This record gives sequence, structure tokens and C-alpha cells, in this order.
Amino acid sequence: MNVLVFDDNEKLNEAGANIIVSLVQTNPRAVLGLATGGTPVGIYEQVVRMYKQGLVSFRNATSYNLDEYVGLPEDHPESYHTYMRRHLFDHIDLPADSAHLPNGNATDPDAECAAYDEMIERSGQIDLQLLGIGHNGHIGFNEPDTDLVRGTHVVTLAEETRKANARYFDAIDDVPKQAITMGIGSILKAKTILLVVRGADKAEIAKRALTGPITTDVPASLLQTHPRLTVLLDRAAARHLS
Ligand code: GLP
Repeated sequence: MNVLVFDDNEKLNEAGANIIVSLVQTNPRAVLGLATGGTPVGIYEQVVRMYKQGLVSFRNATSYNLDEYVGLPEDHPESYHTYMRRHLFDHIDLPADSAHLPNGNATDPDAECAAYDEMIERSGQIDLQLLGIGHNGHIGFNEPDTDLVRGTHVVTLAEETRKANARYFDAIDDVPKQAITMGIGSILKAKTILLVVRGADKAEIAKRALTGPITTDVPASLLQTHPRLTVLLDRAAARHLS
């Protein structure tokens, strides 16, 4: 595990963006696993800046997002489809048909999940999986549980997760109760993983995920088993790590 701690969030963003951009520079056909949430926004900003400087092209790259809410229209301001367009896809040359997210409005969600996994398989392994972490240790929307699921699946969101994400909606009742998420198996299959953790409110879970026992109670703790994991933390999130 390669752990890097930053005093300055801008430097963290640059480091995260550099990892993504360097990969695509050396392998223009890279398969990227992308994440949403507040955490990667600054990294995407830096990726867009580097693209606009002509340092990289995503023309031949492919992306798969971790998750999407069930039942939100694709063009809802808080859908992850909209998020990805707003923060990244509208500003780079990644072809629209190479940028994939689960369809949260599929009439047959189980078939949608199977099709999503098949598409990822057909693209080959994900070269780099970008991840944030929930306060309860979720990655993607893989919530703490006695069992974790390997492939893409429909998940019922933990109340804690709905409360955390309510800040983006008018009211908690507007936060969807379910999502489609890539499974832990798909995440761990990525060749490299880039976990990003920011803020004092994530310090406790960062410690449990990175140094605590490997347990399904903290899905992110399974990342400790990955041979090529890089973790970027700001100073506040790293304060319980020695
Ligand atoms: C969300 C997403 C995760 C994200 C996490 C933390 O609900 N499904 O992919 O990593 O929760 O979000 P944030 O970065 O806003 O703290």
C-alpha cells in the first residue's frame, strides 16, 4: 500500500489527476473505473485542466462508473450521469459511447447488472479504479454487511448513506433508497486502485479501513488485500494514521 498525505488539497488534486493522466498518456486505450461524490471533484477539475492544456486525450479510453441511483431520471441534477457530465465528460474528449454508468432506470435491474459486468469483462481489466469512501466504510455503494457481493448488483442504501447524501437533495425523502453498484469483486479486480480520503470526518474510517481488521463491516478494509493500492489523504483525514 502506498500512502501519501497532503497538507494542501490542491496538491492532492494534482497528484490524483497526474496518476490518471499519466496512465492514459502511456496507455491511451486505458480502462478507467470512475467515482462520484464530493471527494473526486477537485481531481476531475485538474484532469480537465490538463486535457485543455493538450497534455492528454481520452479519445481511445473507456470508463466505467461505480454506481448510479435507482429511479432517478438520467438527467436529474443529482444523478451520477449528470454529475459525470458536469465534472468531467462535458469537458474532455472521451467518446460518449465509451463512458459507461449503470442504468438506474432499467426495467430489469438484474439483467442490467449482468450486462454491466459483461461489458466490463469485454473491455478487459479496469486499469485504474478511483474510489472515495463513505463514513461507514462503503466503497461504491457496497454497504457494510455480513456478506459482500462480487459483481454489479442492486443495493438498499444504508440510512447513514442517505443522510450523508441528503445534502445534495432538497430533502432526505428525495434521496433514492436503492442504487446499482459495482461489487467488491469487480473493484478488487482492477489492476491498480486509487483511494482518496479527505476531511477530519473521514479520519476514523480511514484508520479502520487502512489499519483495522479486514472485515465486511468495513467494506473498504478489503482494499488492504489489493497488491497495487495507492491512498491519497489530506492531513485531516490522516490524523489517526501513524
Ligand atoms: C457516495 C458514493 C461513493 C462515495 C461516497 C463518499 O455515496 N456512492 O462512491 O465515495 O459516497 O462520498 P463523498 O466523497 O461525497 O464523501
